[in-house]
Amino acid sequence: MRLLILNLSLVIILFSCSQEKSNDAILNQRVDSVLSLMTIQEKIGQMAQLSSWGSENRPLNEDLSYLQEIRTGRVGSMLNINGAEMTYKLQRIAVEETRLGIPLIFGFDVVHGYQTIFPIPIALSSTWDTSLVRWVSEITACEATSAGQHWTFAPMADVTRDPRWGRIAEGCGEDPFLTSAMVIAQIKGFQGKDLGLKNTMAACAKHFVAYGAAEGGRDYNTCEVSDRTLQEIYMPPFKAAADAGIASIMMALNDLNGVPSSSSSELKQVLRENWSFKNILVSDWNSIGELVTQGKAENAKDACLQAFNTSIDIDMQGNIYANQLEKLYNEKIISEKEIDNSVRRILKLKFLLGLFDDPYLYSDPVREKSTLSKPEFIKASEYAACQSVVLLKNKSNILPLSQKTGKIAVVGPLSDDKSNILGSWRAIGEPDSAVSVLEGIKTKYTNSKILHAEGCSIEGSSKNGFEQAIQAANNSDVIIAVMGERSPEVNKTLSASDISLPGVQRDLLKELKATGKPIVLILLNGRPIALDWESKNIDAIAEAWFPGTKAGNAIAKVISGEINPCAKLPVSFPHTTGQIPVYYNHKKFGRTPSPNTKEQAKYDDGPEEALFPFGYGLSYTQFEFSDLALEKNKLPKDDSLNIRVTVANTGDRDGCEIVQVYVRDLIAEVTRPILELKGFQKVYAEKGRSVEVRFKIAVSDLGYYNIDLKHVVEPGNFELMVGNSSVNYLKTKFTVID
Ligand code: BGC
Repeated sequence: MRLLILNLSLVIILFSCSQEKSNDAILNQRVDSVLSLMTIQEKIGQMAQLSSWGSENRPLNEDLSYLQEIRTGRVGSMLNINGAEMTYKLQRIAVEETRLGIPLIFGFDVVHGYQTIFPIPIALSSTWDTSLVRWVSEITACEATSAGQHWTFAPMADVTRDPRWGRIAEGCGEDPFLTSAMVIAQIKGFQGKDLGLKNTMAACAKHFVAYGAAEGGRDYNTCEVSDRTLQEIYMPPFKAAADAGIASIMMALNDLNGVPSSSSSELKQVLRENWSFKNILVSDWNSIGELVTQGKAENAKDACLQAFNTSIDIDMQGNIYANQLEKLYNEKIISEKEIDNSVRRILKLKFLLGLFDDPYLYSDPVREKSTLSKPEFIKASEYAACQSVVLLKNKSNILPLSQKTGKIAVVGPLSDDKSNILGSWRAIGEPDSAVSVLEGIKTKYTNSKILHAEGCSIEGSSKNGFEQAIQAANNSDVIIAVMGERSPEVNKTLSASDISLPGVQRDLLKELKATGKPIVLILLNGRPIALDWESKNIDAIAEAWFPGTKAGNAIAKVISGEINPCAKLPVSFPHTTGQIPVYYNHKKFGRTPSPNTKEQAKYDDGPEEALFPFGYGLSYTQFEFSDLALEKNKLPKDDSLNIRVTVANTGDRDGCEIVQVYVRDLIAEVTRPILELKGFQKVYAEKGRSVEVRFKIAVSDLGYYNIDLKHVVEPGNFELMVGNSSVNYLKTKFTVID
């Protein structure tokens, strides 16, 4: 029978000759030709995904017990299997030893690099450079596919307004427009134009939806989001992913407004009906099983039915579909036709990936060896890391730091770190091959004397190391303090109730400050840090996030001025944790904070605005914006705004600036955000030169969800802001007419 399928495929290939695989009719025929041969058990097998790592429901598979499951056709896809050799071995079992020889799909969280590790997603988002992000994903796909991976569980399309949520590191920040742009760039990079090429892979937008709104920033926690906020803030990046042809979407683990996503008929309707999403829906890790713990399902069988009715095609490591679907089928609670719908989507992806034509296309140890960590990939990771550094403060232009500096003290718990710098979801990234900040600085500042002491650990309370660090500081001309957070290797959570620097790091900074030496603070972390004290007391602060494999080289290049920083924050940094949420695109309120009124939406004990706002970031040069002009100030709904602005580099270095366009709808049926990002461009200008920057924005993109939750573009007055952050801009007005 196995041969029959391959022959059938061959006949169809020959018949279809040079026709594109994406030709729907042929693809459907091929899918149906396989489906018609399958038993109900084989169909259900396709809907089960197993991990090589264990879970609560399924003990660690060190004994490779899953091999038997593959042999008996009880598995359609696997995750966490690494390497061309291993994937080849398992694929061979699926192809040679099962009745029908249907190949497996191998999935993995290939998020910001496979072996060559790039900056974490929030750092990449700080570049505001979609071509760079696309390129990073292309390289990532190239490496991962060479090691047998077909499917990545990325991009994370979750907008979040709460930096206490540790998974903010994996996303693109607080704004739906920027997140959507970054999500599309990643999809294009991973999937390319043809999923059947050996260096492209299927992508997965996760976690549908509002996973980033977990209450209190505690991962997996329940979330309550109004329908309007859901439509305007959390849904758009997923819609953008669906429109960009993403191969799959993952359901979130938590519940939204009382309904766990894995059992939500409302979310099913959005995806399958409103958006006509025809590709795969996958559960999150055991999210179907967790319906029982959430109290939404009575038992595993009930959970299975609810997830199946939500149109989830694949059960990730839950063992629920594998054990329960057949019972539901035998009891005639679900039909074979419904099962076929899911299996069709899975087989379709296998065809699109080219697995029926060559199941081993991706599992080639020779290609793997010559592809992983290619020098040009490592260079690209260094470039991306340089572009991700956001310069937050630079008092008296202490940076760039001259290479003639005599003595530099490099201190702090992350100064010689080679592991945390890779960030979470580092795939097979190796700390040994990473470059620490200390190493990078030593390489760059060859004529300087480098003194080093960690001073303290990232999270501990011990101050035993302080003295050594203070001594190093006293003996140097400048202090580079490298501080921040720890990063887990794979997993996420890291929810924090206090987002200031952990442990005694601030105490160490205070002691260093007392030495009177200038301090440059390099931050390595995955979330905004509350830097109230640091912003007042430290001379220069650079947010480098977790920069990946070449962290140290990139940071040294930025500190020394070889690279002029131009990244901007994709998320607001509050002064204190208590201010959260502090996102830029908040609604207009009746009592706007001002020095003259008492009753306002403000705090009595501290500032209400962000310390470092969305879109903010410094450069070693200065840019001035002028001549903001609109081609028309009155325009109908089907027209577009044609915007012009002049950006002058008035400093003494060449550099890039991120030009940002915001709008404000002045009067509407419901309160509207004070600002909404609607466009951005990264522009380069030599010192002393000006560039004219143009934007075209469709008026239809200025709509909102009205009182009846209908998306409308209303006639009325708007303000348009163009600048280099959400607080620094030129302003003009326009009117939308009927
Ligand atoms: C995470 C997902 C991830 C999956 C597979 C889950 O725990 O929430 O983001 O893709 O595991 O590793």
